[in-house]
Amino acid sequence: MIRINENFLSMEKNYLFIDIAKRLAAYTAAHPDKPLIRMGIGDVTLPLAPAVVTAMKKAADEMGVKETFRGYEDSGAGYAFLREAISGYYKTLGADVSTDEIRVNDGAKSDCGNITDIFSRDNTVLMTDPVYPVYADSNRMAGRNILYADSDESNGFAAMPDKYVRADIIYLCSPNNPTGSVYTKEQLEKWVAYALVSEAVIIYDSAYEAFITDPSIPRSIYCIEGAKRCAIEMCSLSKTAGFTGVRCGYTVIPDELVVKASDGRDVKLADLWARRQGSKFNGVSYPVQRAAEAVFTEEGQRQIRENIHYYQRNAMVIANTLDELGIKYTGGINSPYIWLKCPGGMGSWEFFDYLLDKVQVVGTPGEGFGRNGCGWFRLTSFNSYENTVEAMARLKTLDI
Ligand code: MLT
Repeated sequence: MIRINENFLSMEKNYLFIDIAKRLAAYTAAHPDKPLIRMGIGDVTLPLAPAVVTAMKKAADEMGVKETFRGYEDSGAGYAFLREAISGYYKTLGADVSTDEIRVNDGAKSDCGNITDIFSRDNTVLMTDPVYPVYADSNRMAGRNILYADSDESNGFAAMPDKYVRADIIYLCSPNNPTGSVYTKEQLEKWVAYALVSEAVIIYDSAYEAFITDPSIPRSIYCIEGAKRCAIEMCSLSKTAGFTGVRCGYTVIPDELVVKASDGRDVKLADLWARRQGSKFNGVSYPVQRAAEAVFTEEGQRQIRENIHYYQRNAMVIANTLDELGIKYTGGINSPYIWLKCPGGMGSWEFFDYLLDKVQVVGTPGEGFGRNGCGWFRLTSFNSYENTVEAMARLKTLDI
């Protein structure tokens, strides 16, 4: 008789953002005359940069011509032209990442979830709470033991390692989803030192690095000495370049990241990941990889920067409103997310329903990201400027 993976039975019925989408669909069906302003899921609203569109169209045309048509990409790691562009980009961040250490993917979410395939189920996993649900969900599906490091008001939502806690796999995200907090260089040095001493691996999600405005904040874990011996980095063009509907990102596994197998052999994690991807992933389409390459050109960088500035202006509108209303928050400066304390002691789902019902503004309840998110709420700066201004004007009409 078939047996199911019963780890799924102990999980919430839906992924957080699917759950919210269902609630919103029900609300809209019941109130068709009340349009929503969506500041919940981190989905961008500005169109792709012109340089990206031109590159994608040109590549699509090439695919329609016998001489330039392409089938499978042989290495499975992504075309060299894109990996070279990404490697060059890392140099601008002050990190040395070679072309061979990069694998192109269809966005950070897949790799964040799939990377667990290369690790034994027996590992203990450490992640912050609140946390991007993908890290927790994928390890719960695999039945791994998860420990949580509290990120809360007392530490500025930037949990630090505890030398009395033993972990094998550590998830870090900076700028953080959902709290918008960032790790300083000194804090990341402590995490790297902890991982090296514990012989643990850090899975570092840098999907929001392009939103960092403070030049002292590292935009890659590889800006930290020793990180190449203990960290895997995942990044995405979803928020940086508006690729949420295009799908492209990259994972870096350095050559120096070598671990011992139970028989004493040294094993390069990059080799395991290449083996896993070779069997289970056929790569990203040629037009998408050409579009991604365009992001890293001078013109592409200038154009995507304009879009990022647009969202940063929205973040400022939100922050100014919260200041005016005397509501506590973090994020918004180095991040597209604003993490606010629900007013009047409301619970986070209670505040979600309240905002939806009274002013049709949608955010994400902090509780969906973990225990420390209770009483907190996430807003994104990814809507249009006009909608952001309107949403904040509506917030000011409330008795909060
Ligand atoms: C978010 O809003 O946190 C993410 O963009 C949603 C997701 O990737 O699942």
